[in-house]
Amino acid sequence: MAEQKATNIVWHPGDVSREDRKRILGHKGCTMWFTGLSGSGKSTVAVALEKALWDRGICSYILDGDNVRHGLNKDLGFSPEDRTENIRRIGEVSKLFTDAGVVNLTAFISPYRADRDAVREMNEKGDFIEIYIDCPLEVCESRDVKGLYAKAREGKIPEFTGISAPYEEPHNPEVTLKTGDNTLEESVAELIAYLESNGYIDKK
Ligand code: ADX
Repeated sequence: MAEQKATNIVWHPGDVSREDRKRILGHKGCTMWFTGLSGSGKSTVAVALEKALWDRGICSYILDGDNVRHGLNKDLGFSPEDRTENIRRIGEVSKLFTDAGVVNLTAFISPYRADRDAVREMNEKGDFIEIYIDCPLEVCESRDVKGLYAKAREGKIPEFTGISAPYEEPHNPEVTLKTGDNTLEESVAELIAYLESNGYIDKK
């Protein structure tokens, strides 16, 4: 984890609490952390879930790996160290979104268990919901939506997750979605049901 570099800095609390925000918004913020191989369906499920939540009046927002790497994290590549820093920064950003009352959906491969666990640790209990998008490599590779697996097999993309870089499955995710077996609608319904039954959002 990054060390504290700046000195002489003092935390400045605001006058609006999380409870205040919850009262206005009608729900509290949380982070739904999607993890899984490239092409497993993280972004697809996140996009459909964001829309389903939004249609119910829930303030939701997606932080997506490919998108964030165009801006905030454009200085990072795919070495183990850069991936760790990628996840650390997104962990901090998602914590801010949670504090702001947003149901934020993060779609990053986040291949290292220790990095994901570190994000869990930086959050208050219950604020971090880990969702494992469990899709076999063969299925992700056969979809190859972005054509990256083919390039990785040809050796044109080094350190490609699942081919030449590791993916560490979560041990105890809150939710596991088998996107190779289930429809998109089923995956979204399962996540909505999780949020409802655990008191994150009201039942419709
Ligand atoms: S992570 O490993 O650091 O969490 P992140 O989710 O931000 O990755 O970005 C993954 C996306 O970057 C993939 O979906 C793919 O489109 C692209 N990508 C480019 N190079 C690689 C690589 N070497 N390994 C994995 N994904 C890559």
